[in-house]
Amino acid sequence: MYVDRVLSGMRPTGSLHLGHYHGVLKNWIRLQHDYECLFFVADWHALTTHYDAPLAIEDNTRQMVIDWLAAGVDPAKAILFVQSQVIEHAELHLLLSMMTPLGWLERVPTYKDQQEKLTEKDLSTYGFLGYPLLQAADILIYRANRVPVGEDQVPHIEFAREIARRFNHLYGKEPGHEEKARAAVKKLGGKQSRRYDELRTRYQQEGDDEALAAARVLLAEAQSLSLSDHERLYGYLEGGGKMILTEPEALLTPASKMPGLDGQKMSKSYGNTIALREEPEAVSKKIRTMPTDPARVRRTDPGDPDRCPVWQLHQVYSGDEVKAWVRQGCVSAGIGCIECKQPVIDAVLAELAPIQERARALTEDPDTVREIIAEGCQKARHLARETMRDVRASMGLSFG
Ligand code: TRP
Ligand code: SF4
Repeated sequence: MYVDRVLSGMRPTGSLHLGHYHGVLKNWIRLQHDYECLFFVADWHALTTHYDAPLAIEDNTRQMVIDWLAAGVDPAKAILFVQSQVIEHAELHLLLSMMTPLGWLERVPTYKDQQEKLTEKDLSTYGFLGYPLLQAADILIYRANRVPVGEDQVPHIEFAREIARRFNHLYGKEPGHEEKARAAVKKLGGKQSRRYDELRTRYQQEGDDEALAAARVLLAEAQSLSLSDHERLYGYLEGGGKMILTEPEALLTPASKMPGLDGQKMSKSYGNTIALREEPEAVSKKIRTMPTDPARVRRTDPGDPDRCPVWQLHQVYSGDEVKAWVRQGCVSAGIGCIECKQPVIDAVLAELAPIQERARALTEDPDTVREIIAEGCQKARHLARETMRDVRASMGLSFG
């Protein structure tokens, strides 16, 4: 049976902060209950920009996986793995590179943007130009159809869709496709066969999109078909060849509401973060010393929460009652800023405590972390190999 498969990756930037937690990890943790999920560390992608410092990548990878686990990503529910340990990604990347027009890569907006931004590095490399293609291989090799990413990554998912389409168009034509497809239709069984044909005709003759959608559901629910016949019938439906690679869709992650200590978006490059594994004393101090409404110089000056980054943190952490207390106390100078910050400090510490506890246990038990990663890589490899078998066969590369 065909299910939605979710895949997402993160470059190993080292230990994560509350921005990652509220922006990405909580979303992953939600998704892992509802979908088949694969989450991976994109260590090769880190190499495209940090080829001069490869050694840090390995430790960053381990630390990042510890943070994922500590935050609640569950290896019993989701497959967690490391890109470089599933070398099939590299094979697919290579094969896709043969049919990828250079112009498509040069036009991906992140290419010029990043080159202009990261001027201290020479990014006029082959690997960096290929960044979106490697990402496409990451996605297509698992036939993942849902990819949770932020706004900035949407062009990359769009690019992966175009690559999948081009691949299917070029290599989805198998000898005797029509006969094989007809035989597969028969395997659906009397009633379902007739219904498939009827929906297919309605789509092809009248362009009826609902018929197309209904036929896809019919196929998704068909238990009796092999993977190969599934692909045949998906392709046959639209009048094409076999659908070998699945076109993915971006599952847009809502923009993180997590503000940094200065009110800007929380980000390492702004130096305004609270790390998931930051010591409680350091966390308290960071919040106690964070800036407030600049107009509120003395305790007796009334303030305006809308000009204060602490208020933004209350939006994330406080309930209506506390928020009402803050607004009222701030505009009337009834409370001091330190007093106002205390509920935020308490809430952040309460949120971090169980995460830090789990991170501590995992840090003391490197074998367990290693095993979780090894097991995830094993499962990922198994899925990747299935796709590669079909890819190789369709390109005439299955010797032996
Ligand atoms: N490029 C992504 C980022 O910087 C990371 C990534 C690599 C990714 N491969 C992926 C995300 C595949 C989703 C799917 O955030
Ligand atoms: Fe900001 Fe609170 Fe101080 Fe008002 S009382 S300025 S909201 S910290």
